[in-house]
Amino acid sequence: MPAPDSARRRATDLREQIRFHDRQYHQLDAPQITDAEYDQLVRQLRDLEAEFPDLVTADSPSRRVGAAPLRTFAPVQHEVPMLSLDNAFTADEVTAFDRRVRERLELESTEVGYVAEPKLDGLAVSLLYEGGRLVRAATRGDGRTGEDITANVLTIREIPARLRGSAFPGRFEVRGEVFMPREGFRQLNERARAAGEKTFVNPRNAAAGSLRQLDSRITAARPLAFFAYGLGLFPGDALPAEHDELLTALQAWGLPVCPEVEKVSGLAGCLAYFAQLSAKRPTLPYEIDGVVYKVSRYRYQTLLGYVARAPRWAIAHKFPAEEATTRVEAIEVQVGRTGALTPVARLSPVFVGGVTVTNATLHNLDEVRRKDIRVGDMVVVRRAGDVIPEVVRVLPEQRAPEAPEFVMPGSCPACGSVVETIPGEAVSRCSGGLYCPAQHKEAIKHFASRRAMDIDGLGDRLIDQLLDRKLVGTVADLYHLTAEDLESLDRMGRKSAQNLIAALETSKASTLARFLYALGIREVGEVTAQILAREFGTLEAIMAADRVRLMATRDIGPTVAAHIETFFAQSSNRDVIAHLRAAGVHWPDETAVAGAGPLSGQRFVLTGTLESMPRAEAKRRIETLGGQVVGSVSSATSYLVVGADPGSKHSKAESLGIPILLEPAFIALLSRAEAGGTIPE
Ligand code: IVH
Repeated sequence: MPAPDSARRRATDLREQIRFHDRQYHQLDAPQITDAEYDQLVRQLRDLEAEFPDLVTADSPSRRVGAAPLRTFAPVQHEVPMLSLDNAFTADEVTAFDRRVRERLELESTEVGYVAEPKLDGLAVSLLYEGGRLVRAATRGDGRTGEDITANVLTIREIPARLRGSAFPGRFEVRGEVFMPREGFRQLNERARAAGEKTFVNPRNAAAGSLRQLDSRITAARPLAFFAYGLGLFPGDALPAEHDELLTALQAWGLPVCPEVEKVSGLAGCLAYFAQLSAKRPTLPYEIDGVVYKVSRYRYQTLLGYVARAPRWAIAHKFPAEEATTRVEAIEVQVGRTGALTPVARLSPVFVGGVTVTNATLHNLDEVRRKDIRVGDMVVVRRAGDVIPEVVRVLPEQRAPEAPEFVMPGSCPACGSVVETIPGEAVSRCSGGLYCPAQHKEAIKHFASRRAMDIDGLGDRLIDQLLDRKLVGTVADLYHLTAEDLESLDRMGRKSAQNLIAALETSKASTLARFLYALGIREVGEVTAQILAREFGTLEAIMAADRVRLMATRDIGPTVAAHIETFFAQSSNRDVIAHLRAAGVHWPDETAVAGAGPLSGQRFVLTGTLESMPRAEAKRRIETLGGQVVGSVSSATSYLVVGADPGSKHSKAESLGIPILLEPAFIALLSRAEAGGTIPE
């Protein structure tokens, strides 16, 4: 049966989301969702593709691993691709894996020998040894093409530059995980805190940020470690019969292998190992996020082979997200940008998933009712990776008998306007529109946010003051602020005022997609904004489109189309847009894309003093080449250019894993681009 349109749209949407998160995770080291949530997206896509095979495309992210590598490091073609692993979240899924393995090997009633290994939370690397010398180290990249990080890997003491003995093949690749042990991570962050620099979110990001340094002296100062877990290139005749024998050999050659690795027998052996390692996990000196089971016998591995992105002979059994119990002290209601009221649980502080949690979003009234969360309740909260904590469930046996049910307020806590609840919709909304100070403030915050106009330094408190003193009505007024206006505010010195004026100036050069997103049209998120920009090319064309024309666009349904049409039909909105453009807001990418300069699409941030040219000249040269100079470092930044006496941007870029260019590298890049060379995306 051919896929219905709804399934087709859903598949496109899932692919877009997966690609976005691939980039966040693999290229920018700034994951926005947990691995579990990511895996969920991939699963949904695969299920959909399994149900409707005509939806499968050659480039679907379900068919490849990771994302394209970042720039700056030389590309390395992996002769043997670096694959990913399928995940199992329950014992049932592991049972099914073991059954598939035995069926394929026609070993129905025999137990399979597995090697069980901790799933280390770091970065996969491939080490090429020739004649016993480490000649090249590469990241995984997209699985086929990685990055050459040899200089950095050579700074990791545990990785031998020369192997021991002579029993190894002449040319072969070892694969394993570079990670940062907990203690090293703690000390690194402590030093960063003491120096007033930005800290890393978790050891994985710290490891990634450290490994992808263009200056290997920085890597050398980071406490990185390594465990080998497998092979890339390897001569067949040198291969032992079993994976555990290989690990023993690697160890004999001087490569570190995780001491927790064990050979186990059959499904029961796997599950027993999982239970044992789960119990041990808190005391391990490094972070792990599950267990990997691998069929030990290489002949079996060959028979089992691979599916698109993962071997059939291995699976990752993931630990559930971390949970803790605490008390709901209060349930407060926050007013969002679109007036949506969100109940938020204020919690007794509790340490979970690596941080102290004090709030958890409860999403909406339905969610509060479904979970029946009440003030005073003891609740289980869950936090995984760096995502927002959530309340998993209530412990009702500990509830005070008189605890009242939560009710949504009938009027907005910020402006007192009537709260509307549309039947069939989960959300309640304040009807005050921009009259509501909370909505107004959120709209300005959104406009200024990193992924929108990216106005560095325009924080919460400042927006409060600007609104209180009536210095700003609409977002267009931001661009008429003067340094004197700003200096009159609390805790605003001359320097910060000037910085903010400069940041406002820089933000004027935006992209059409960012600008559309910044306007805060209901249901127009980043992805939709990008689709609109691509499809229509100019703001005028979008403003002129009616909902029928809008709906002819891929992925734009009737609701979104109606929101867009309504937004641009309002004269107040058209006025604000006209004022913004009159103030100089523009999007050079329209011409840059047309001119396709070698730096087009690349966003540079400059910090510190450059010796060889004034900043204005650096900016002009980048822009002439089609690149953009922006004020602050974000996950969308392509490069941070570092001169003498760099500011805090340096550590921020590091923590996000953004490539850092010292002046000579920056000049080399400009000269290459000016000579007509393209800089690989
Ligand atoms: S084996 C084809 N073993 O997990 C098999 N991977 O999702 C490839 N990882 O990119 C990997 N610990 O970074 C393997 N003991 C282990 C691992 C491990 C961590 C990571 C590795 C890989 C990812 C796969």
